[in-house]
Amino acid sequence: MKKGFFITFDGPEGSGKSTHSVRLKDDLTLDGYDVIYTREPGGTLLGQKIRDVLLKNEDIKPGKQAELLLFEADRAQHVEEIIKPALDKGKTVICDRFNTATFAYQGYGAGMDINMIRSIDDFVTNGIFPDITLILDIEVNMGLSRAGKRCSADKMEKRPYEFHERVRQGYLDIAKKFPKKVKVIQVKNDIDETYKFIKNEVYDFIGRNKRSG
Ligand code: TMP
Repeated sequence: MKKGFFITFDGPEGSGKSTHSVRLKDDLTLDGYDVIYTREPGGTLLGQKIRDVLLKNEDIKPGKQAELLLFEADRAQHVEEIIKPALDKGKTVICDRFNTATFAYQGYGAGMDINMIRSIDDFVTNGIFPDITLILDIEVNMGLSRAGKRCSADKMEKRPYEFHERVRQGYLDIAKKFPKKVKVIQVKNDIDETYKFIKNEVYDFIGRNKRSG
């Protein structure tokens, strides 16, 4: 078995990251990696409850602070129960959304202080951070309309256009600040073409950072 990496996918609503991350899992598995596929929020039993509170249950309306802490509580459990044990065993972890989402949504989107988010997130992630993050970038209206076709809108998707525009610009800003680790992939109409860019980016990274088992 080849020794693993921690790869995360992120981006605005409707960017197709779930489809692409599953495809990458299949390719890496075929290439000899032992891959765990997971997501946030909702990668653990506790996380599934938190996901329901944050995105589905319309009667529960967390304020900004509570929302941030719930996303971070989901992550704390996820890192401890799933991600860290898998990485310790040399597995590759592909995670559909991770802490870049908190900076983009709760930081840039909801306007919470970035340094405060960083200190909570550092406490929660406890030294675990992605080797590479792929931001799938899509124009906000197009993304929301694609997400809307998939299923009925969740509480986050129902937020105003301006919120989602700040989130998108946040992702692009983060990628500019951390160009070595955070890569922007422009979403194309052709899924295969988009995936080609993702695969190139990941395999290029792996090639430069080979780890023996
Ligand atoms: P998704 O899994 O369908 O992308 O939905 C997750 C939603 O939760 C999405 O709207 C982004 C949002 N989110 C945050 O606001 N902060 C976070 O830290 C995470 C992980 C997700």
